[in-house]
Amino acid sequence: MSSIIILGGSAGEHIAIELAKLLNVELGSLEIRKFPDNETYIRILSDVSGKKVIYVNSLQRKPNELIIETLYTLDTIRDLGAEEVHAVIPYMAYARQDERFNPGEAISILSLAKLFKALDIDGIYTVDMHLHRITDPTKIFGAKFYNLTGVRELAKYIKRYHSIENTVVIGPDEEAEQWAKIMAEELGDLEFSILEKRRLSAEEVVIEARDVEVRGKNVVIVDDIISTGGTIVEAVKALRNLGAKDIIVTTVHPILVKGALPRLLRLCLKDLVGTNTVLSPISKVSIAPAIAPRLKEQLNL
Ligand code: R5P
Repeated sequence: MSSIIILGGSAGEHIAIELAKLLNVELGSLEIRKFPDNETYIRILSDVSGKKVIYVNSLQRKPNELIIETLYTLDTIRDLGAEEVHAVIPYMAYARQDERFNPGEAISILSLAKLFKALDIDGIYTVDMHLHRITDPTKIFGAKFYNLTGVRELAKYIKRYHSIENTVVIGPDEEAEQWAKIMAEELGDLEFSILEKRRLSAEEVVIEARDVEVRGKNVVIVDDIISTGGTIVEAVKALRNLGAKDIIVTTVHPILVKGALPRLLRLCLKDLVGTNTVLSPISKVSIAPAIAPRLKEQLNL
């Protein structure tokens, strides 16, 4: 059997280290720096020839830079004679730009998918990719695309650190029903519901809570992404107006832009927790255990 090596890009090393431990495979090294003119310099320091290579990079915080780094690195791994190339992209950037909302706009996720597809790699593994209008990502990325979930890891954290008595799970909008369902199941078949959200702009939303019974109950909110925090702020207000008690907010991808964290801290939540697909002060849960089993299966480990 050919040997396996795992490499972490500049926004994926923290996850690559954990995956190497969980899969018991060699952790290789890369050199990433800038040329004086700001172009990206990439050098793969480990020998990847004839090996199965797992490359990890999360397209978080500086997505444009990281996309270039990721595509160039994957192409180089193949070019250096790797037997198989597997890309772990815990946070897939541009997934929310999945439609031409205004004439002439780029459907960025389609363009990004075409670039990945052109590399013809052996597997792409991502986590809770925002699938709204594109429901089957294999149609754009190709068949070897796996969309995993980090919600079970968030549920393990809740079970470990909090009591779940008298608790309901809430998704702040229709799309979040899939995550609310998983969270509710993992917490022991709790009840779950969703709120109704209308987006006014990239930063403003209106949330209504109809047919949601939370009076006197504790709530666990789960969403895929917290970006500006607008969705969560409005969801928490709506739930408190309905008489909810303690509220814990969980998210897979804590992007937390534009002062989102102070806005969320002012809500005095019982807990606020995300995974480390995006590094932030609330990234208390490791995503590696959500990814490792699929890699084991695909690489026959
Ligand atoms: C959108 O539908 C997503 O599931 C999230 O609810 C959204 O991206 C959160 O964004 P923000 O924190 O800016 O409201």
